Amino acid sequence: MKNKVLLFSFFLLYATIPSNAQYYKHEGTCSKSDAESIVKSVVVAALEEDRGVGAGLIRLLFHDCFVRGCDGSVLLDKSDRNPYPEKQAKNNIGLQGFEVIDKAKFLLEKRCPGVVSCADILAFAARDAVEFLNGIGYNVTAGRLDGKVSNASEADQNLPPPTYNRQQLEDLFVTKKGLTVEDLVVLSGAHTIGQSHCSSFTNRLYPNIDSTLDQDFANNTLRKQCPENACVDGVVNLDHVTPDALDSQYYTNVLDLKTVFFSDWSLLTSQETRDLVVQYATKPGDWEADFAVSMPKLSNLNLITNPEEGEIRKSCRAVNSYY
Ligand code: HEM
Ligand SMILES: *[C@@H]1O[C@H](CO)[C@@H](O)[C@H](O)[C@H]1NC(C)=O
Ligand SMILES: *[C@@H]1O[C@H](CO)[C@@H](O)[C@H](O)[C@H]1NC(C)=O
Ligand SMILES: *[C@@H]1O[C@H](CO)[C@@H](O)[C@H](O)[C@H]1NC(C)=O
Repeated sequence: MKNKVLLFSFFLLYATIPSNAQYYKHEGTCSKSDAESIVKSVVVAALEEDRGVGAGLIRLLFHDCFVRGCDGSVLLDKSDRNPYPEKQAKNNIGLQGFEVIDKAKFLLEKRCPGVVSCADILAFAARDAVEFLNGIGYNVTAGRLDGKVSNASEADQNLPPPTYNRQQLEDLFVTKKGLTVEDLVVLSGAHTIGQSHCSSFTNRLYPNIDSTLDQDFANNTLRKQCPENACVDGVVNLDHVTPDALDSQYYTNVLDLKTVFFSDWSLLTSQETRDLVVQYATKPGDWEADFAVSMPKLSNLNLITNPEEGEIRKSCRAVNSYY
């Protein structure tokens, strides 16, 4: 009964606040900054153990926001009612960081039940990972709701595979998602951290080494890390120079033809994108400043604020009607 009353008052609350709600106003249980500091403590603890989780959280946000907006849809587990959630999509190979979101949700539900959505938690967590990894700070909107739909084929239609060329990337980022060419180049710089499975790029190594790759690097580094017909799908660092640092090294790697994905190389194929790659590779600080602008844009894509369309999940892995 008490829960019903609580829930009802949230519905009223969400029906009356403007779409860019910045604060949680429910009876002082959690302010935005309370919620943010709980998430941050969980993220910091996780990254002190393993910086790779930070890469996972940044990618998780991207994969959430490009499919139905930043609505936590990527977090939903497969169930008998929904056997093909986004997690099953081919483009979602290697997603990680879910346990961090679960931990934050658990603490927030204890402190202020039903107030902070999983979509907000993920946006905060990715932001905290960025700050932990290189000190870049930015603000994201709070008060978004969690979606109720998660569909693998939508993830495959809205996320870029590593085989995309520049035109395909621009069609997706600019035409479909309303970002800019600059956002595309800036956000691609996230490939300065984290790892890839061999299967995501071995088409560039076998049977022949792609001419878009540095031949020596491909032959002596990537082919050794990813042998042909290996029985396990190995992993390699995306940035072979500073693998754990969230820095602008990615752009130097692109210019050197030493990045694993064809999509990374393809940023060299127009004057506009190439000029940006050169700028970020050569002007210290430019990429960091622009990343702090593009990340909040990504984090605030197509938020659900209408209570008819969303909810605040009790568990980030299941919709409430199924919990
Ligand atoms: C531009 C088009 C993009 C393509 C084609 C792409 C593709 C990929 C692929 C194939 C992987 C490796 C998956 C695996 O094999 O395990 C990966 C990893 C990663 N991507 Fe992207 N990505 C793109 C843009 C982005 C953006 C915009 C971000 C974030 C802002 C991002 C962040 C990451 C991170 C951090 C990793 C490493 C994840 C980890 O180590 O857990 N990517 N990406
Ligand atoms: C975030 O917002 C707060 C409060 O509005 C402000 O004080 C702070 O400077 C902002 N931080 C950044 C990095 O923009
Ligand atoms: C998932 O999305 C696809 C493509 O938009 C659609 O055809 C399909 O019916 C959806 N599946 C479910 C279970 O809603
Ligand atoms: C690749 O490396 C092998 C030995 O590791 C060498 O025999 C071969 O000539 C190299 N090929 C190219 C194209 O560099």
